[in-house]
Amino acid sequence: MSYQIQLLADGQTFTANDEQTVIDAALDACVALPLGCRAGVCGACKGKVVSGEFDLAGYGEAVLSAAEREAGFTLLCRTRARSDLVLDVPKAERDANKPQKMPARISRLERLSEDVMRVDLQLPASETFDFRAGQYIDISIGDGEHRSFSIANPPERKGIIELHIRLVPGGKFTQHVFSDMKARDILRIKGPLGNFYLREDSDRPIVLVGGGTGFAPLKSIIEHAIHIGLKRPIALYWGARNPAGFYMRELTQSWQSGLSGFRYIPVVSDTRPDDGWTGRRGMVHEAVRADYADLSQHEVYACGAPPMIEAARNAFMRERALPEDAFFSDAFSFASAPPVKD
Ligand code: FES
Repeated sequence: MSYQIQLLADGQTFTANDEQTVIDAALDACVALPLGCRAGVCGACKGKVVSGEFDLAGYGEAVLSAAEREAGFTLLCRTRARSDLVLDVPKAERDANKPQKMPARISRLERLSEDVMRVDLQLPASETFDFRAGQYIDISIGDGEHRSFSIANPPERKGIIELHIRLVPGGKFTQHVFSDMKARDILRIKGPLGNFYLREDSDRPIVLVGGGTGFAPLKSIIEHAIHIGLKRPIALYWGARNPAGFYMRELTQSWQSGLSGFRYIPVVSDTRPDDGWTGRRGMVHEAVRADYADLSQHEVYACGAPPMIEAARNAFMRERALPEDAFFSDAFSFASAPPVKD
């Protein structure tokens, strides 16, 4: 059974079937909607159902309160239509996401660490692919499935998409990346996606928090900030299980030595007496909480696994006075059900 979904602001319509979430149906139709994690944990896709019936399942209470549900709000990434719907979603948020589908050729494969591969994609010369620093793309892997990966290069590097792909044991796509993928292979991509991007109209100091390959979109943000001459202080907190997880060391060192107002704090979570690590230890969001008594004047961008994002959101907002509209997150999971960054 199919239903018509209409956007109140401009009357744009698309079709969704019983099985699809509203977000997936919109992406299939290349209709822009606000979105982030597609896992019900970031709240980026919040919108209001003006009319119609729908099911909503599998989301975090912290991002959609009972009062908001009562008022007709929903998370579009966890919503399935049960009748035709009319939606009210913020136009400004939609403008960040004008997804396109296109082929992309692999131009570079480089092992960044034992379990992280850099994959550069060359885009067709005939296509214009504009994105904002921090956004991500979907790669189609067949049978209607996709995998999502953050773009690691800044928007100014035109025609290329740089990805940092972590090997997931048993992961259908990432096993392929590490074993069979070759330069010149063709992938089908969709993007740009996500409302996780640098807000350039703010003057707040920036705190970036990344776990593992959550470094990738933060790298894009930093390189873009350098390109536009952003003067706001930037602190990068990067969490990894062990010291080997901090790949691209020369780059982070160059930021430390050459970028005024920049601080870099790598944080190791798995303590091993023989790893030689003399830096910070523990959970990466805990390091931020320890360093900042008050985040009320800051802006935080966090990218990593959903538990880290949830913990950071709670700690920063409840205990460090970070305003809700100053917390931006890109939560990815490595599960077998979409959305995944496998
Ligand atoms: S909660 Fe829907 S995109 Fe994150």
